Amino acid sequence: MELMDAIFERRSVRDYRTDPLPRETVARLIEAAIHAPSAVNQQPWSFSVVRDPRLLDRMSHDAKAHMLNIRPAALPAHLYESLANPDFHVFYHAPVLIVISAIERGPWIAEDCALAAENLMLAAYGMGLGSCWIGLAQPWLDTPNGKETLGVPVSHVVVAPIIVGVPNATPPAVPRKDPEIRWVG
Ligand SMILES: Cc1cc2nc3c(=O)[nH]c(=O)nc-3n(C[C@H](O)[C@H](O)[C@H](O)COP(=O)(O)O)c2cc1C
Repeated sequence: MELMDAIFERRSVRDYRTDPLPRETVARLIEAAIHAPSAVNQQPWSFSVVRDPRLLDRMSHDAKAHMLNIRPAALPAHLYESLANPDFHVFYHAPVLIVISAIERGPWIAEDCALAAENLMLAAYGMGLGSCWIGLAQPWLDTPNGKETLGVPVSHVVVAPIIVGVPNATPPAVPRKDPEIRWVG
C-alpha cells in the first residue's frame, strides 16, 4: 500500500469483528509504533496490551464511571449521554486495546507517544485492520487503578489508548475543515 493512500484512507473504526488478533500481529503493530521519531531519541513509550473481553468490559465500565464523576468541562454534551448509556462500550467491543504510556514525565512525552500512536494506526490500516484512539478512556487509565489494571507503575503517564481489530464495516470519511495556512515570507 502507498503511504499517501494510508494517510488519506485510514478511518476511526467503531464496529469490529470479535475474532481475537494474534500476538504476532499486535507485536508487528508495536514494532511500527516504535519507529516513530521521538524527542532526543528518548523513546519514552511503553505498551500495555489488553485482549480479555471481560476485562475490557470492566475497564469500559470503570472508564465511563470515572468520566461521569470528573465531568471535564470541555466535553461536548452528547458524549455525556453516551457515557450514561449502559449499552455504550467505550472500546466498541474491539478485540484488542493497546495503551501507550510514557515511562516517566518529560517535556515531550505526549508528542512522542502520539507519534507512536499514529504510526500504529497507519500500520494497522496497512495490514487491513481498523483502529481508533479512545480518549474517553484516558483519564481513568491514568489513575492509580487504571495503571494497576494495565500493569504499569504509577509513575507512568497514560497518553494513547488505541483499539484495534478487523473492521465489520468501513466508516465514511469525516470531512476536514479547510486548514488555516499563512504563507509567511
Ligand atoms: C486524542 C483523540 C481522542 C479520541 N477519542 C475518541 C473516543 O474516545 N472515542 C471515539 O469514538 N473516537 C475518538 N477519537 C477519534 C476521532 O473522533 C476521529 O479521529 C475523528 O472524528 C476523525 O475521524 P477519522 O479518524 O476517521 O479521520 C479520538 C481521536 C483522537 C486523536
